Amino acid sequence: MSGLRVIAGRAGATTATGVAHGLGIEPAPCAVEEFPDGELRPRVGSMIGDDVYVVAPTGPPTSSAVVELLLLLDACRRSGAARVSAVVPYFAYARQDRRGSAGEALGARVIADVLEAAGAQRVLVVDPHTTALEAMFSVPVETVTAVPTLLDAVAGDLATQSVVVAPDLGAAKLAQRVGSRLSIGVAVVRKTRTSGRTVEATEVVGDVADRAVLLVDDMVSTGATLETATRVVLAHGARPDVSVLATHGLFVGDALARLDALPLRRVVVADTVPVTVDRSWISVRSIAPVLAEAISRLHGAVRT
Ligand code: R5P
Repeated sequence: MSGLRVIAGRAGATTATGVAHGLGIEPAPCAVEEFPDGELRPRVGSMIGDDVYVVAPTGPPTSSAVVELLLLLDACRRSGAARVSAVVPYFAYARQDRRGSAGEALGARVIADVLEAAGAQRVLVVDPHTTALEAMFSVPVETVTAVPTLLDAVAGDLATQSVVVAPDLGAAKLAQRVGSRLSIGVAVVRKTRTSGRTVEATEVVGDVADRAVLLVDDMVSTGATLETATRVVLAHGARPDVSVLATHGLFVGDALARLDALPLRRVVVADTVPVTVDRSWISVRSIAPVLAEAISRLHGAVRT
């Protein structure tokens, strides 16, 4: 296998440039044309014998981003790449890792199948919503995490009288990991999702009274989870001093308006999707160094 190539479509361009520079190369040229009816047509250069990493987050507009990734994978394969890896900093549909009721689709499995069909021979993801994602693929899946990078940004805000809070049971393990790392206590909010935009919660397990709160989650989408969790911990006596660590900052719909109303010191996210919203309380950390390190390792393993 000859060269190492990093390539991206539209949403992954900034991250791919950071990744490529971290690897000491330039991103490979790629153009994505969008037709008036919404069809996409990517075009890449020759990749004969190369080890190619296609960087493509699948954030909103999600379905279009997924199709763009599929077409890019296919274009690289047809341009002669020896190996094509999908680098998906934010992996959409990972929340559909099981069917909630009869008649639903298994979204994560469908996306895994089409990525493989389009040519992905390996997948690299950042903090996927579910660890079950790996089992959805027959090709190898590498998972990396943004959490240490994000923690560096909030660690200075925290004191021993702070508490790490999981806004739902799904985030409890993450909260445990962060709590151990920071040597502070952990609490968990019991949340029920009532729709795509609404959640309910009244209970918190653990002591939050008179403590500053660090909420941790894999993603912020509509902000409903964060808003509800914040209101619950405040109702249980937490200080109006809340920081948030979440890998994927989607901030869709009226997320900002929801979060503006809360006593947030700061919300730290990674740039696993392009963050275009602008608020003094949002801090964005680059995921490029983490991805570059992982790609360097994977490429080295191919060469040896
Ligand atoms: C759900 O289980 C996830 O971990 C997040 O808590 C959730 O997807 C966040 O979405 P939203 O911001 O719309 O509540």
